[in-house]
Amino acid sequence: MESLNANLLHASQRTGSDKQAWLNAGGGTALRQAFADPAAVFSAIKEANLRGLGGSGYPVWRKWEAVAKEAPRPDKYLVCNGNEDEPGTFKDRLLLENTPHQIIEGALLAALAVGANRIVFYVNPDLSRSLTAMQAALDQWQFGPFLQEASKVLGHAVDMELVPSSGHYIGGEETAALEWIEGKFPFPRGKPPYPAQFGVHGCPTLINNVETLAHVPAIVRNGAEWFRNQGIGQATGTKLYSLSGDVLHPGVYELPMGTTLNDLIFVHGGGLLSGKPLKAVFTGGPSNTLLTPADLDVHLDFDSLRERGGALGTGAMIVVSEGTGIVKRVAEYIRFFAHSSCGQCPPCKTGTANLSRLIDRIDTGRGTADDLATLESLCRMLPGSGRCHLVNGAVQLLDSSFRHFRHEYRAALRS
Ligand SMILES: Cc1cc2nc3c(=O)[nH]c(=O)nc-3n(C[C@H](O)[C@H](O)[C@H](O)COP(=O)(O)O)c2cc1C
Ligand code: SF4
Repeated sequence: MESLNANLLHASQRTGSDKQAWLNAGGGTALRQAFADPAAVFSAIKEANLRGLGGSGYPVWRKWEAVAKEAPRPDKYLVCNGNEDEPGTFKDRLLLENTPHQIIEGALLAALAVGANRIVFYVNPDLSRSLTAMQAALDQWQFGPFLQEASKVLGHAVDMELVPSSGHYIGGEETAALEWIEGKFPFPRGKPPYPAQFGVHGCPTLINNVETLAHVPAIVRNGAEWFRNQGIGQATGTKLYSLSGDVLHPGVYELPMGTTLNDLIFVHGGGLLSGKPLKAVFTGGPSNTLLTPADLDVHLDFDSLRERGGALGTGAMIVVSEGTGIVKRVAEYIRFFAHSSCGQCPPCKTGTANLSRLIDRIDTGRGTADDLATLESLCRMLPGSGRCHLVNGAVQLLDSSFRHFRHEYRAALRS
């Protein structure tokens, strides 16, 4: 099996937790290269312009540089974030189940680049197949030659551990993850200090998404140019898009970063169910924005979507066909945010509860023009009032729905 030029989900990469199959497919090559030249890992990732794929799109090298600069106190951590609990996002579980050794190799390469000696794989406990595959894979690495060599290069014994997360959506927020790993309730922390300076038990900590780390071995093996050439336009590499909703072939598609919305839905996804016209797409999961048929030409990458007033987020695309009420769909997601608020910040706890109550009133025909005005004024007041992005995400979705579908809110009001 030859897969040296394969990306994340190439058939030959899907070795499950069979370590020999992964080695036969070229697994471990990047690690051997990195043992000879650890500094090359950082430069390859920087030149490749790999972005954080957990939702922010933040340049990976910047975060790595910040962690690399810090001295261990006494440890340095790397957390691989596999919480994945946002509606419509189901890509990381596919990697955890099918390519656990590739994720471990990516994490170990990142650890070598930033000098981390403690690696935590933080996985949602509801993803039982992911947990089983990761644990089986990790068991095969303990005391093996790769871990021994990595410890020698780092000058510290490398420790790898699987930690089931709390399973809450909020537990995926990076500082909430740190709290849970320390054994506390996953309440997000205020920032600064950032995890790079003050992470798990106060140690410098790098936290990256599963998909982000899974890209690292192929970039190191094949070089930054190989990765850059796979993207469209200025975008680099490939992306896992979670396609769902009213589409003929829902699923996870690994495609060039910057694939158009049209190609994702109509070429790869087979078009809409029952041939109904497209009405809207929740892009990047419900904590982001809505696109409409006028946006079918948009390239699905961080920068192109931002220029269009949208966001790539996790790469989740939830397709909505004509005949579906937007107010009802948005109301469902706002209810999710209200239930997910951890309650630490009063504006978020009461704000998301009130957003949910008001949109529910409107959706069920009980809302007045005053309710809509209050909803809109809350959307102006709430952004930035919480410790984490949850409340901003809820407002972003509402704002986007007002921009494109205000007429549906008006039509739903009590006359
Ligand atoms: C409410 C909330 C939930 C999040 N859930 C996840 C998650 O499940 N997985 C993830 O990788 N990032 C999640 N994030 C983003 C993380 O805070 C963090 O940005 C990410 O893990 C960094 O990895 P990256 O730089 O590789 O994208 C969440 C953020 C927020 C605000
Ligand atoms: S913004 Fe909301 S979810 Fe985030 S920490 Fe505050 S209360 Fe918790």
